Amino acid sequence: MTGLPEAASIRGEALACTDLLALEEFRLRWLGKKGEITGLLKGLGAVDPAERSARGAAINALRDIAQTAWEARKAELEVIAEQAALDAGWIDVTAPSSARAAGRLHPITVLLEEVIDHFTGLGFEVASGPEIEDEFHNFDALNIPKDHPARDVWDTFYTDRREIPRTHTSSVQIRAMQTRKPPIRVISPGRVFRNETIDATHHASFNQVEGLLVDRHVTVGHLKHTLETLVTRIMGRKLETRFRPAFYPFVEPGLDLDVQCVFCNGVGCSICKGSGYIELIPGGLVHPKVLASCGLDPDEWQGFAFGMGFDRMVMMRYGIDDIRRLYDGRLQLVRQF
Ligand code: DAH
Repeated sequence: MTGLPEAASIRGEALACTDLLALEEFRLRWLGKKGEITGLLKGLGAVDPAERSARGAAINALRDIAQTAWEARKAELEVIAEQAALDAGWIDVTAPSSARAAGRLHPITVLLEEVIDHFTGLGFEVASGPEIEDEFHNFDALNIPKDHPARDVWDTFYTDRREIPRTHTSSVQIRAMQTRKPPIRVISPGRVFRNETIDATHHASFNQVEGLLVDRHVTVGHLKHTLETLVTRIMGRKLETRFRPAFYPFVEPGLDLDVQCVFCNGVGCSICKGSGYIELIPGGLVHPKVLASCGLDPDEWQGFAFGMGFDRMVMMRYGIDDIRRLYDGRLQLVRQF
């Protein structure tokens, strides 16, 4: 029909669009409100009435052709665009991979294995106890009576049933004395729990290693020697140590073993607060009441006990200055002494 575009050229034009932007221009040109087909329809009024209806039908047919061509090309271009997006992020499975750091044992595990090796070499056995304790094992039998202010020191969590996520591994001392006959030599590594605000030096869950020896004629000298050889083994060299008197209800006398600060070699620094020593291992001779609460005659048996904050040892040995690093999976070892 005269003056009308060719259907084939409309189709060709749609096919010539190579992206969705060009196709949108095609749509506006042919199918938009101000597009060519709308213009042709508007022009019908000026057409000879005899030709008008045939010309109208022809224009409508062209509109359907443009619409169909647009839809078909749109579907094609969408598939092409999707493929291009995939191609942009495509993974070459044959390319060599980037280097990855190999996993390794956690420093707590490494040091614990060494400590266990050290003590088993001295004839100690590893004993364990439950992480959820009762008041007897966590407090009463350790000469920490109910309502005694000493209980407050431990910032205890309680469950609804008044069970205690153990505040220290000293509870295992009691279990060892109840179930074994002297001579007893045990260490007990494990997790303990305290209602502490977490910061660089405190955590609500951390590790301790408890030690207990019960025999005849046990003295502070035995404890001193045992702990000093342990420190030498862990730190890889002999460090200055000193005992200071301290109070723990389950030992008499109670002592704290301080070790020469490894960060400043005893000169005095911010970590040891200028003293040149770091407080490392509390201990003492087992209190006669504790022996008695486990059915042992204090006139016949003596013992020493100690309870190290194990995380602090790990931190000292590996130069980790924030306890949270031990538990948050972003551990980077700075130095090894
Ligand atoms: N249980 C104590 C605490 O968690 C540490 C401790 C001190 C353990 C003296 C001992 C000891 O065995 O004799 O604070």
